[in-house]
Amino acid sequence: MMKRIKVKELLSSPDVGKNVLVKGWVRTKRGSRNIVFIALNDGSTINNVQIVAETSYIDENLLRDITTGACIAVSGKLIKSPGQEQNVEIKAEKIDLYGKSDAETYPLQKKGHSMEFLREHAHLRFRTNTFGAVFRIRHAMAFAIHKYFNDKGFYYLHTPVITGSDAEGAGEMFRVTTLDLQNLPKNNNGEIDYNNDFFGKETKLTVSGQLEGELGALALGEIYTFGPTFRAENSNTPRHLAEFWMIEPEMAFYDIKDNMDLAEDFVKYLIRYALENSRDDLVFLNKMIDNGLIDKLKFVLENEFARNTYTEAVEILTAADRKWEYPVGWGRDLQAEHERYLVEEHFKRPVIITDYPKEIKAFYMKQNDDGKTVKAMDVLFPAIGEIIGGSQREENYEKLYNRIKELNIPEKDLWWYLETRKFGTAPHSGFGLGFERMIQFVTGMSNIRDVIPFPRTPKNAEF
Ligand code: 4AD
Ligand code: MG
Repeated sequence: MMKRIKVKELLSSPDVGKNVLVKGWVRTKRGSRNIVFIALNDGSTINNVQIVAETSYIDENLLRDITTGACIAVSGKLIKSPGQEQNVEIKAEKIDLYGKSDAETYPLQKKGHSMEFLREHAHLRFRTNTFGAVFRIRHAMAFAIHKYFNDKGFYYLHTPVITGSDAEGAGEMFRVTTLDLQNLPKNNNGEIDYNNDFFGKETKLTVSGQLEGELGALALGEIYTFGPTFRAENSNTPRHLAEFWMIEPEMAFYDIKDNMDLAEDFVKYLIRYALENSRDDLVFLNKMIDNGLIDKLKFVLENEFARNTYTEAVEILTAADRKWEYPVGWGRDLQAEHERYLVEEHFKRPVIITDYPKEIKAFYMKQNDDGKTVKAMDVLFPAIGEIIGGSQREENYEKLYNRIKELNIPEKDLWWYLETRKFGTAPHSGFGLGFERMIQFVTGMSNIRDVIPFPRTPKNAEF
């Protein structure tokens, strides 16, 4: 038995004259009764390999059954191609048909399906050039993230998905329960009695691994998490998912400046990695999805991010000759339109905004001496808006405790978090990168639903 060779390997160092075995899915078939040309893709690369099948070698009925979408194994000789389109092709000597694909009902017959149509066929969209490219790049980015942190001596920490605390304090959490929803146990006050629930307490899906990440950083030094996070926010936008992946580094002894430097270095590393390792896929996306993609990636690499305080950003937005849909004013949160104005029109490059009003940020951020702002940092990107959110953390026990009380956060949910500030507290910082937003930027895909294999959004959990 000959060993299967992947198309990527076959095309990158073609061994002309050799017998090869390839396996994959038919993208197109054309030709005449006697000679058929098949473009075969096996997912290893965006490029197809051309199979030439002649009826003198391959049964005519078999060839008729090989239609778009079918899965085949082909063995034959690798030869120089007389055609202009490709260097080499395989002259088929034997074809096995693993799976037919009914020409009448296969959904991906024609080119140019809409993104919406492909989303409804998410089980098959991997087989298109665009989604093949996107998901190969998604893999490359995941790998690069682990490589980046491993090379820097950070430890990958697995934080829990099921939790009793609300890390962001925004109350946008999905419940986790095994209670019978038709027949909920109640206590004497008429409230749901979670003593009878699986964990003996109320539990939710986590919105962030940060709080547990901090516990790790305050002993291991530098850690990162990389896992799924969940937000039950009813946001139907091209940048929000109910289930998304987040990378959250957390570092002891970093102040907010060190935190910003790491964030900038990290995203630039990922972009450089993509340019160096996902070339064919990026060239394709640059041609088909966003003509400015590769220039945009290089531009981010070549320019320092702007760094401004929230107060400066509000001044810029107030002075802007613009009618805003959402009002601008000190104390109000920045909306996507404001973020995009700052990045795309004012600074014309990525921007890091720091020192936000404490009221619009989470309880754990380090309080500034002005009593009004906290050491928050958001990294804003062109087309995406906020791609990273982070901060220096409040390491002072009293200040943190008072803030938790002020916000009426139950102490019983966070006693363990508070204890780290009692025993050997240390200045520390961290941030969260939204993985899908990063993939959107690197691929040029405009909708976040198209950079995760199976998106979860309000009213949609198909597949
Ligand atoms: O700004 P966020 O909410 O920050 C945190 O969760 C902190 N605990 C992070 C930290 O300091 N360790 O979220 C961080 C990033 C955002 O900047 C955004 O890129 C992404 O996560 N994000 C989402 N991505 C997709 N869909 C959503 N609903 C998202 N919400 C946040
Ligand atoms: Mg944020």
